[in-house]
Amino acid sequence: MKAIILAAGKGKRMQSDLQKVMHPVLGKPIVQYVVEAARDAGFDDVTVVVGKDGEEIKVGLKNCGGLFFAVQDEPLGTGHAVQAGSERIKDDDDVLVLCGDMPLVTGEFIKEFMASRSKEKAEAVVCAVYRENVGDFGSVYDTDGEFVEIVEAKDITEKHATTTWANTGIYLFKGASLLRGLKKLKNENSQGEYYLTDVPKILKDEGASVRVFHSYADMSVFTGINTQIHLAEAVGHMRARINARHMMNGVRMVDPASVFIDDSVKISRGAVIYPGVILEGFCEIKENAVIVNSHLKDTIVRANASVRNSIADGAVVGAGTNVGPFAYLRPGALIGERCRIGNFVEVKNATIGDGTAMAHLAYIGDADVGCGVNFSCGAITANYDGKEKHRTTIGDGAFIGSNSNLVAPVNIGENAVVAAGSTITDDVPSCALGIARERQIVKLNRYKN
Ligand code: UD1
Ligand code: CA
Repeated sequence: MKAIILAAGKGKRMQSDLQKVMHPVLGKPIVQYVVEAARDAGFDDVTVVVGKDGEEIKVGLKNCGGLFFAVQDEPLGTGHAVQAGSERIKDDDDVLVLCGDMPLVTGEFIKEFMASRSKEKAEAVVCAVYRENVGDFGSVYDTDGEFVEIVEAKDITEKHATTTWANTGIYLFKGASLLRGLKKLKNENSQGEYYLTDVPKILKDEGASVRVFHSYADMSVFTGINTQIHLAEAVGHMRARINARHMMNGVRMVDPASVFIDDSVKISRGAVIYPGVILEGFCEIKENAVIVNSHLKDTIVRANASVRNSIADGAVVGAGTNVGPFAYLRPGALIGERCRIGNFVEVKNATIGDGTAMAHLAYIGDADVGCGVNFSCGAITANYDGKEKHRTTIGDGAFIGSNSNLVAPVNIGENAVVAAGSTITDDVPSCALGIARERQIVKLNRYKN
């Protein structure tokens, strides 16, 4: 069993600098979903046909491992693309052909399609789906399941009857039949392309048995992405599918239509996802955590924590910690348990110990902060001297008064106190009080002359 995935088309209709099949659908390129579906259906030998500038696709699929790539120098049509990808095909192979622009097709569906073949022993099987209006899909004609022809939307004339069977772009061929059919392909059609859809017709004309598999599966499974509008539709379908999976696992979603979760994200039972949430990359949301109107990327939110109206990228939020509203956790913000990261607080490349609070207006960058530390309103680390970054360390139980600047590199000892309004440039030992500000002068009777 070998699979060929066609991904060399120009994708002109996308009007994009990115290759069509590399457009992301919830965190993964379109074509990666197709590769994964083929693998799920049991295909280990998968060839992806890419164009001359296919390096981008090879790099994009590096996590899939063990793929074969073939290059179609010029995009002269889907049939021409299969020719380019047919080098590994042997006569007695079963060859599955998939379009690389159909991210919603599943391994389960492919298995169902394959199963139909073993019953019928045909040389080729074309997968058609019921559709009230075939639209820009190819129209499939058959008599009692025996293939007649596929006519592309652009080649349809008045002489063609209307049909409700659309060509999904999924085919199964016997290796020898495919190779034979490809040799005879011509490009005499409105687009001057070598259509793969003509191969079943060629085989049929030779007297082979070519069958049509009629599917009544939801049309969304076969969404082929040709335009940005199709891409948005596919994201919508994929989002619903991913959200449903999480809800079935016991995740509560108040309004799934307003929630965008990448396929790679993990969410534990009991977590609650409120509207306006975007979870990207390798986020993990643990038991009973609550996320409200926030954008999180590659971030772990541990049990019973909450993140509200905030942005996080490459951060860890410890169990029971509350973040937001309006906090910004940047890469390397490792927040301990039961912390309070309040409004207008930014944390970057800093470890924050358990029970530490910064309730409002703070910037903590390049710092190691102990447990139970309190940052009052407006406390910051001055970590950058214009050339280099420096670290600040703060011991357990320290108290950093309001509106103070900790000019790094600097150390604040355990249980030390920094007086409000201080600009600290020298270390403050443990249990000491550091005051670094002008002493107040009070001049009496200001209004008397
Ligand atoms: C194709 C089918 C159509 C079917 C539809 C399903 C043909 C002629 N038409 O039309 O019957 O209903 O898919 O979605 O096959 N590609 C290459 N090299 C090329 C041209 C295309 O690799 O020279 C790849 C594209 O990257 C794409 C796939 O083949 O992934 C399908 O090509 P596309 O141009 O999107 O075909 P459709 O017009 O959608
Ligand atoms: Ca297409």
